[in-house]
Amino acid sequence: MDVKVKQSRVESEPAEVLVLSHFDGETALQDEAAAVDRALQGALRDLLKTGEFQGKTNQTVLLHTQGKIFAKRVLLVGLGKKKDAKLDSVRQAMGTAIKRIRQSGARSFTTVLHGRSIPDTSDLELVQAMTEGAILGGYQFNVYRTNNGDQPKDVERMVVIAPEAQAQTDIKEGIRRGVASAEAAMFVRDLSNHPSNIMTPSRVAAEAKKIGKEGNVRIKILEQRDVEKLGMGAFLGVARGSHEPPKFIILEYNARGTAKRNGRARQPIVLVGKTITFDTGGISLKPSENMEQMKADMTGGAEVLATIRAVSRLRLPLHVIGILPATENMPGGRAIKPGDILNTLSGLTVEVQNTDAEGRLILADGLNYATRLKPAAIIDVATLTGACAVALGQFAIGMFSNRDALKQRIQQAGAKSGERVWEMPLWDDYFEQLKSDVADMRNIGGRGGGMITAALFLSKFVGDCPWVHLDIASTDWSDRERAYISKGPTGIGTRLLIQYLIDESNSKT
Ligand code: BES
Ligand code: ZN
Ligand code: ZN
Repeated sequence: MDVKVKQSRVESEPAEVLVLSHFDGETALQDEAAAVDRALQGALRDLLKTGEFQGKTNQTVLLHTQGKIFAKRVLLVGLGKKKDAKLDSVRQAMGTAIKRIRQSGARSFTTVLHGRSIPDTSDLELVQAMTEGAILGGYQFNVYRTNNGDQPKDVERMVVIAPEAQAQTDIKEGIRRGVASAEAAMFVRDLSNHPSNIMTPSRVAAEAKKIGKEGNVRIKILEQRDVEKLGMGAFLGVARGSHEPPKFIILEYNARGTAKRNGRARQPIVLVGKTITFDTGGISLKPSENMEQMKADMTGGAEVLATIRAVSRLRLPLHVIGILPATENMPGGRAIKPGDILNTLSGLTVEVQNTDAEGRLILADGLNYATRLKPAAIIDVATLTGACAVALGQFAIGMFSNRDALKQRIQQAGAKSGERVWEMPLWDDYFEQLKSDVADMRNIGGRGGGMITAALFLSKFVGDCPWVHLDIASTDWSDRERAYISKGPTGIGTRLLIQYLIDESNSKT
């Protein structure tokens, strides 16, 4: 979707649909809505008076203007109660609006700036959230449908009406950020939607190379023999059962002219993403119910790819490295078996008691590789544990960290992006559960605290580096369509990472 800003008056701007919003329970209409209402001879107020429209979260009403203003239709969308409103209310309102607009057959719309009275939000942030909501709310994945004609046509153009000339610069930047982060999340949804017979480790590597071709990002792919030489026994152990060659993918973005600070090379922020292109469980085979969803077990890796692409498109003044250990987890004649012991890249040995706890194995080597890059911070993203879904459900990403300042910045980015994180403990007391009788540790923690023991396992591979672990199992997949969240792969986590990096780049310049 093409998103633009224009300084104009809503009543006199031609449009297929004009989007206005309203807070639940407010009797007076907001500035522009009041002006439109006057031109429509009180039609909007009548809707409020009769109670047909209250402004409840994601409530909509569409009315034709019969030539009374230049827009053909007005779409009123609810922002919910004013006291509860946040940036995400605006994102949701636009996600809801775009579906209603598409349903009406319109291909373009104009909109005012919604939610300007929400405390602690700038015009830039509002427009970014609006843009994200509108783009993500319209997401469809139709690559494998042969009857494309039956699908509703995409809305192609959104014009944000700037109330004052001076708001335009901020609005433009909000649009730029919103487009970059929404396109990143859609890229993740696409990659996770593709089935595993298409989205193989080789295909993920090809996607990384495509990002390399856009410029500014250097790609290095380590092949099986390379990782053998390095000694990534845990990653290779998981890959053994598969016929698909594993790929250890590295992407590096280093903004030109800002590579050095104070004469020293800028330390990179390293992102590590779990990239299991299909998780059968291996010899500890998963039950068949819902197993098809395990095509999305590469979402962490997809988020790292998409984030690097966004950072490069936004030309953020940062040094960011992405690492994707990519493989399938398959049973097979050569697959690892329960009881097998693997030599990790770090030197620690791991007894594999369950081959379905494979994410932590590939991440052990990915994280240890990351520590060798002298990082300012390591952030890993992984669809790591079913226990995360049990503990937190659909609305929070499980977060673990060994540094308070870093953790707080991630929490802030979570609130701003609407992709919220919830902190879980990394207490060493839990390590007892990971003890093995024959190796340095085992890869499962037994009953209780499954999300925690998985994170604690990872912590043994990051040394003293500042580190955040994000468990996106359950938030990565939605069983139903919501305002701007698609059914199936959601891409949740991507905008959080991008927002964190945007904030990071602002705090440094
Ligand atoms: N990929 C799964 C975790 C997962 C489950 C993600 C459901 C999304 C939805 C992971 O590799 C796994 O199988 N974990 C096991 C670990 C267990 C064997 C200790 C789990 O959570 O059951
Ligand atoms: Zn698994
Ligand atoms: Zn997995």
